[in-house]
Amino acid sequence: MAIKKAKIITITSVKGGTGKTTTALNLAGTYSLLNKKTLILDFDLYSGGIALSLDIDIRTDLYKLAYDMSVNDYKNIDDYVLSYNEYIDIIPAPKDPRYASKIETKYIGIILKKVEPKYDVVIIDTSHFLDASNLILFDRSDTIMYVMNNSPLDLKNLKSMLAIHKDMEKDNYVVVLNESNLKLNEMFTNYDIKSIIKNDINYVIPATFYNKNINRFVLKGKIMLLDKNVRFFNKKTVKVFNKMALDLLER
Ligand SMILES: Nc1ncnc2c1ncn2[C@@H]1O[C@H](COP(=O)(O)OP(=O)(O)OP(=O)(O)O)[C@@H](O)[C@H]1O
Ligand SMILES: [Mg+2]
Repeated sequence: MAIKKAKIITITSVKGGTGKTTTALNLAGTYSLLNKKTLILDFDLYSGGIALSLDIDIRTDLYKLAYDMSVNDYKNIDDYVLSYNEYIDIIPAPKDPRYASKIETKYIGIILKKVEPKYDVVIIDTSHFLDASNLILFDRSDTIMYVMNNSPLDLKNLKSMLAIHKDMEKDNYVVVLNESNLKLNEMFTNYDIKSIIKNDINYVIPATFYNKNINRFVLKGKIMLLDKNVRFFNKKTVKVFNKMALDLLER
């Protein structure tokens, strides 16, 4: 029997607050509706928000996992995985941010090897810093997803970042324009954006997905796209996430 190997999707950006964590959660929710076993790894090590957003008590985390591996106390990956529902599991970022810098990067690959056979999809939420752990994650990913907003700073930095990918002949990335958390007026048309970043926009999360009650979902530990009402009123967004989820399984 072939060993199942999860698709690894790393969600990142070139500036903070573009909607990475929200996208990671909604993508996981979408996969759960497609009956795909999904693990969210919270590699936003200093300020991870996955466990909080899902109202999951952090009784273990990435630091404990890497530490136990380093002292040979590690037995089974299941001891470090927390369950959200039948399809979604998580491994949270360190509960105490002081431990974030103590995670040795050499364990990242080992952790991925342990989880890959157990899931259909591993979604990795990250910070927007190009640090050592993000570089390792990029290297191990089937797809790197850049979540961007329509702002000059984002465009300038994303253009540079994508040029680096192209220089290295690595084209395993997608660009997601998130219009749903914009407080600014849109600065550029999609045509402008494409010509500035010299790249396609692969998916657009529509502005209509803006939800003024998003913090209520967070406080209740609910994923927006798993809510019947939200799905009913955001058919366009449901479609975008479904297409994204299915496309990413094929890459
Ligand atoms: N659909 C939405 N409707 C309303 N607000 C949203 C929506 N999506 C994201 N936001 C808000 O935008 C902000 C940034 O979102 P999020 O935390 O997902 O971004 P991030 O890229 O993970 O940020 P960070 O870089 O800090 O990790 C949050 O305050 C979030 O509540
Ligand atoms: Mg985040």
